[in-house]
This record gives sequence, structure tokens and C-alpha cells, in this order.
Amino acid sequence: MNPTPQIIVLDAGGQYCHLIARKVRDLGVYAEVRASESPAATLRSARGIIISGGPSSVYDPASPTVDPAIFTTGQPVLGICYGQQLMAHLLGGEVRRGEKGEYGFATLRLSETTDPVFGGLAGLQQVWMSHRDTVTAPPAGFVVTGSTETCAIAAIADPSRRLYAVQFHPEVVHTARGQEYLRNFVFHVCCCVRDWDPRHRVPMVEQEIRDCAGDRKVFFFVSGGVDSSVAFALATRALGPERVRGVYVDTGLMREGETEFVSRMPGLTVEHAEERFLGALGGITDPEQKRHIIGEEFVRVQERIIDARHLVDENWILGQGTIYPDTIESGGTAKAALIKTHHNRVAGIQRLIACGRVLEPLKSFYKDEVREVGRELGLPGELLDRHPFPGPGLAIRCVCSEFDAPVRATPDGLVLPVNSVGVQGDSRSYAPVLAIGTLDHDKATALINRIAGINRVVAPVETRVAVERMQASACSLTPERIARLRRADAIVRRLSHQSGYDAKVWQFPVILIPLGASAAPDSVVLRPVESVDGMTARSVAMPSVLLQAICRELLAIDEIAGVFYDLTHKPPGTIEWE
Ligand code: XMP
Repeated sequence: MNPTPQIIVLDAGGQYCHLIARKVRDLGVYAEVRASESPAATLRSARGIIISGGPSSVYDPASPTVDPAIFTTGQPVLGICYGQQLMAHLLGGEVRRGEKGEYGFATLRLSETTDPVFGGLAGLQQVWMSHRDTVTAPPAGFVVTGSTETCAIAAIADPSRRLYAVQFHPEVVHTARGQEYLRNFVFHVCCCVRDWDPRHRVPMVEQEIRDCAGDRKVFFFVSGGVDSSVAFALATRALGPERVRGVYVDTGLMREGETEFVSRMPGLTVEHAEERFLGALGGITDPEQKRHIIGEEFVRVQERIIDARHLVDENWILGQGTIYPDTIESGGTAKAALIKTHHNRVAGIQRLIACGRVLEPLKSFYKDEVREVGRELGLPGELLDRHPFPGPGLAIRCVCSEFDAPVRATPDGLVLPVNSVGVQGDSRSYAPVLAIGTLDHDKATALINRIAGINRVVAPVETRVAVERMQASACSLTPERIARLRRADAIVRRLSHQSGYDAKVWQFPVILIPLGASAAPDSVVLRPVESVDGMTARSVAMPSVLLQAICRELLAIDEIAGVFYDLTHKPPGTIEWE
């Protein structure tokens, strides 16, 4: 059993909603995410409530709301971004639709106040904004406690009612002292006590596994990622190796050496399904369709294995490495935008959950908490510290194109006719990429903020053909292109590991884009990023010696026309290109 959450985060649909709960847990206080409309009466046990950000405008008819009674119970409430707008709107303030958004760093000027939520914070602060609408008049009883150059009402408070709100995001790392702001709210306003340390929960989770399994055995599909590996190890420790089995499905979309790495785990067997996956993906260009096909194929392979091994009988249950955000991202609360359909929550598995035949020992943990649990279990750093790798594998790093299209010159740079995903505010879009002449992150950021219709900026590092003479060629996800990407990815990983650079970045996707010339139809994009959790990320530079070595080896592949460097931070560009 988890503790009763002291802080409840109401999910207004923001991509940072989980980050808020996680940041509170980092303070040693157990927090959970709930649907924004949860009745106030169901939140009474919490010591404080936080309303998250979200993509909506309070004036949209279907926008998320909260039970207004939460403002009258005496429980402290903190509204963040959309949460501030909603609080102001519901309590009689004024919110205006913004014409243009404000995304990125801003300087907050805090008013002098003795209120505990600002304890230790005064004067100018670096904060991070991502919004369109703004509060233009605070509700009666509130004072304006902070402003930025473009946002006059960036923080408001009514300390007598213990209601607080901020337009900026204290939960993201780019808000320099955001964690102090949250700490003040959690400890000094809500008077929470420390009750959470994931490492101390290992014996309880093991007991939960034993209770759930009873005298049945547990079967896992292990992906080689941190979550399923830690869940598998936990179950093995709780039940003993003779009662736990694992299968790793080779989809043909894995990185070089991955299957060998995973199959070293004791108790695991490998199921080869490369042909099935690559066959089903033949001719597909659309990114969401790729994810869908891979998800469906996973389920089919899983069902086949379950049938073949007679795991449907009463003696077996299915173990999964589902973590907390997975349960919510696929609709665990009402407003979470469906970013990706997680294959841990497809229909067949939902049925097993409904009849109590699924074990998900990590379902209340966040990723970094899972790592801590793994360390507590003594799992090797080589496994726990791996860069995250997406479930759909290389498929979503192998960009396809429906049409042939030329590169287009504009006064700001060359528009590459290759679509990639961007995330501005809280909504996602596909748009072409701009190539500029220099590896200049500041210039890239300024251009993205100024130019509509692009959400990513790259710079060519080295190309065989002048970029303006390149063109995108119609192509889908073929085994040849996957193999090409796998080879490119292996080169980059090897060189970046040898130089120690891989330990300095959080993730380093290598993307194949269908841009080149006839004999060399593809190019490679390097996307090293620094991040804490993948929610926000900074594109980072790399040593030029390493970059040159990578280019030299990549351009030795005949079909590669060029190497590009992604200069885009997240937001506005997602980490993955699809
Ligand atoms: P984005 O691209 O949204 O990625 O900035 C954030 C983090 O999530 C990973 N990612 C995925 N993981 N299935 C996964 O299991 C997916 O479909 C998927 N898409 C993105 C990504 O690698 C990054 O760490």
C-alpha cells in the first residue's frame, strides 16, 4: 500500500503534470496525480492541491476545470500556468486570450513579501514560461506577487485563503529556483512531512508481489529497458527464479547488439519476430501508423507466446514494467493528451487487469525512482544508466516521406522538406525543418520563435552534396533503411562511448531522414540532448574531434549523403523526430 498522498496534482492536461508530482516526491513527500474534475470531497485527505498547466484556454467550452469547492476547504492550492488562469477565472479575475505565446526563459521580478511561499526568494529570478493566455486582472483578495517584462501578472497570492498561483513553471529545471518555490509550498504552506523514499519501499513491493501472485507463477515480456528489467528482477527476488519467466521479443527494430545484451539476463529467452514486424511495417510512412502497427504486432506476438506456452491457465499471471506515467499517459486520468498508446494498456491486457491477472509492481513509481529501486536490488549500472530508448525502437527514428520534394531556399535558411514533431505550448505538430549554416544554438532558438511553420532547426556538419541540391525522396520503412540506421546508430554509439561523451548526455538519438541525392538517398541527424526527465531538453554541443570522427565514419557509408546536427531545444522540438 502506498501512503495517502499529501499533495494531489490535478491534471489539467499539461505535459508537465507528472513532473510536478515527481518534483514533490523528490522532496520526500508522496504525491499523486488525479483528474482535474475530481470532487473536492475526494481530495480532503491531502494537505495541499496543485493544479497543473495544460494546453487549453479557460474560454474553450471543453477546457478542463476543477471543483470550485477546492478553493473554500482551507486546503492550500497552488495553480501553475493554466492552473493560474483557471484559478483566476473561477474566482472572478480576468484572463485574456494571448495572440502570441511566450515560450522559454523570462526574468521574474518578485514583490517584497513575508509570505512563506516566497521564503528565501526575492528580487529577480530566472523562470521558464510556456503559455498563450494570461491573467489580466487577479480575483478580489489576491495580490500580484511577481511579473516579467511581457507578463504583468506572473504570480498571484491570497495568503489569507492559502491560494497561490504562478504563470511560470516551477517544476522544470530551467526555472532556476523552482524547486525552492515548490519546497516552500509543500513544507511551509501545506505543512507536509517527509514520508517517501522509493528505496525503503522495496520490501513492501516484494510483499505486494507475493500477495498478488499467490501460488501462481509470473511471466514477463522484458524489453531490455530499465522498467521491465527492474520489475522482472523484483519479481524474481520476491518469488524465486523458479516461479518467474521472461521473454524478450526481437522486433527487428532494435539497436545493434541489443538482443545479445538482453539475453545475458538470467531466466530470459529470446523470441525472434523480426520478419513479422518489418513485414507489417512495409510501405508505411505515417509516424502514428507506425506506432499503431508496432503496438498491434506486439500484442499478437505476446498472445501467440502466451498460447504456445499455455500461460493462460490459472497457474500464470502476466508481469509488466508499467510505471506511473504510463498508466496516466494512456488515459488513466481524464485530460492527459494521448501522446502515445502504451502497449502495456492495450485491450487484451486491460482484460487481464480486470480479472486480476496482471502484476505491475512499479506502477506507482517514476523512472528515476525505478532506477533507485534497481540500485537497491544491486542491478548493474550498465543496465540502470542506459539512455532511454523508445518502445517502437528504430522505427520512429527512421523518418519516411510520401513525396519527392526539393529543398527550398528562404532568407532565413534552407527549408528541408522533411516533417518532424514539435511541441509548442502543450500541443504537438508536424512541420518541416530549417537548415542554417552554422552550429549556433542561440540563432536556432531565435529563428524558431520568429518563423511560423517550422519547429526544428538543424545545421549541416558535413555533406557529400550541397544541401540546396538535396531532395527528399518518397520512401517508407524498409529493412534496408532500418539496417542503414542501425549501422549509423552503432557508429555514433561506439565513438561517443569511447570518448566518454555518452555519459555526459541524457539521450543521443540518431535519426535517418530521407534527404540526399540519388545514389545517397538518406542523411543522418545527430540529436544529443541534456535533460532530467525527457519532459524538457536542451540540445547540446559536442567536442569537435568527436563530431569529425563521427562524420568521417558515417560518410563512409555509401548511401548517406550528409550529417546534420539538431540545434532544437524541447520545447519547441520533441526529443524524437516522430
Ligand atoms: P519526446 O520525443 O516526446 O520524447 O520528446 C520524450 C522521451 O520519450 C521517449 N519516447 C518514447 N518512448 N514509446 C516509448 O516507449 C514511444 O512511442 C516514445 N516516443 C518518445 C523518447 O525517447 C524520450 O526519451
